[in-house]
Amino acid sequence: MKLEEYLNTLPQEIITGESVELPERSLKDIFKFVGLGENDILYHLGCGKGESLTIALKNFGVKKAVGIDNNAEKISIAGKNLEENDIHAELINNDIRNASFDDATVILFWFTDEEIIEHMLSKFRNLKDGCKIITIWSPLPNCIPDKVEFPYLLHKVPFQEAQSVKEQLMSIFGVKCIDFITAWEFAERYTKAIGSPDAENDRFLTIIQSVIIWINARNQGVSCTKEIPESVSTYMSILKRFFGLDVGHLLK
Ligand SMILES: C[S@@+](CC[C@H](N)C(=O)[O-])C[C@H]1O[C@@H](n2cnc3c(N)ncnc32)[C@H](O)[C@@H]1O
Repeated sequence: MKLEEYLNTLPQEIITGESVELPERSLKDIFKFVGLGENDILYHLGCGKGESLTIALKNFGVKKAVGIDNNAEKISIAGKNLEENDIHAELINNDIRNASFDDATVILFWFTDEEIIEHMLSKFRNLKDGCKIITIWSPLPNCIPDKVEFPYLLHKVPFQEAQSVKEQLMSIFGVKCIDFITAWEFAERYTKAIGSPDAENDRFLTIIQSVIIWINARNQGVSCTKEIPESVSTYMSILKRFFGLDVGHLLK
């Protein structure tokens, strides 16, 4: 079975990230990473049930916390949660593409949909200088992050433009090319940072992720070797033999 076919068998709201919420410890790590404080106005785009807003106000004492989500049900749950905890955050039920957040000093933006990202990038460019945008795993398109604690990336307006994929890669991974060790290390960091601490299948996930990171790097011309390293081909065989999963066709 091709990897894409396997992914299609999984709950789509998880695969698209629609129903995925960042756990409390990740939110705290992100806010520490960005240095969130009392002078900040935080916007969480795609805030879901709004836990981030409670943490920002209660643990980091921000001046204002606003959550935007296009899912009315989630916004209603967020409203109830905030009320129960006597937290005074603002909630907006809207598509982030139509929302305004001009007074933001910090924006949490965890999206993978390319159309949304492109649209938002042009909105972000118009924000006031110094405004911080946090993304997870991937940087804003063609931008060099100002600070990295992988998988958390911080970009400040005005954005630093990347001259090449290599330059962007260097700024995120601190390496000039991707070998399997780098792919593995960063796949693990991602799972540890935002995964559930008691997940039992994280090894399987790390194998798939690191192989895919390496393949993508090779397709982009930034892998350290053009030939498939032994470690990658071994894991490709394991995926095929023990899990019936094919990834070889992803190599261009
Ligand atoms: C982690 S975000 C990312 C999901 C998104 N499908 C992506 O591009 O990866 C998930 C949250 O964003 C919300 N969301 C998804 N699309 C949105 C949009 N266009 N505007 C506002 N909220 C949105 C969902 O309701 C959910 O609470």
